[in-house]
Amino acid sequence: MASNSALAAVLFLTSFMFGCGSAATVVVGGSEGWRYGYNYTDWALKHGTFYINDTIVFKHVAMNTSNESESHSVYLLPNLYSYVQCDFSRAQLLSNPSQVEESAGFSYQLTQWRPQYFASGEGDGSADCNKGLMKFVAVPLPRWFN
Ligand SMILES: *[C@@H]1O[C@H](CO)[C@@H](O)[C@H](O)[C@H]1NC(C)=O
Ligand SMILES: *[C@@H]1O[C@H](CO)[C@@H](O)[C@H](O)[C@H]1NC(C)=O
Ligand SMILES: *[C@@H]1O[C@H](CO)[C@@H](O)[C@H](O)[C@H]1NC(C)=O
Ligand SMILES: *[C@@H]1O[C@H](CO)[C@@H](O)[C@H](O)[C@H]1NC(C)=O
Repeated sequence: MASNSALAAVLFLTSFMFGCGSAATVVVGGSEGWRYGYNYTDWALKHGTFYINDTIVFKHVAMNTSNESESHSVYLLPNLYSYVQCDFSRAQLLSNPSQVEESAGFSYQLTQWRPQYFASGEGDGSADCNKGLMKFVAVPLPRWFN
């Protein structure tokens, strides 16, 4: 009996520290999607912890050539400085405005254990990233910090 419950405790702790839930899929902004004028830093804080191998999904509408302010993209910025400055010169384009179907969105898996800086770069960066607040930092943790 005692050894059974000890074994159960070990199994419990093991699953707590390692397996514990599979990676989640998180829609950035929730029902707001990836749009102009929404505060994604605030959203990220409310969402809480990201975990390694979680998938984040950006849902932005397909490019509308007659209204540029409806066109958004997703960039991965190289560091905190470029993120703060909305400097896209060394950013990696993940999803351009014409690439995405709103229903499916663009998916990105957080495979690395380091801060990852996301922003929309339309309007030379300044429109979406600065005024539109279309940026946030994800710092995924390993599941065993759960
Ligand atoms: C966005 O949200 C964050 C976190 O709640 C807040 O600190 C920041 O001031 C907000 N930015 C704007 C421009 O409202
Ligand atoms: C994340 O996924 C990769 C590939 O599927 C896997 O090798 C790795 O162990 C996973 N990392 C964590 C922390 O789950
Ligand atoms: C594109 O933008 C124009 C101007 O705002 C709008 O009239 C039109 O409905 C939009 N088209 C789509 C598919 O959203
Ligand atoms: C373009 O889209 C933005 C955001 O949806 C909207 O606020 C604006 O009124 C639109 N402009 C025109 C000319 O329709």
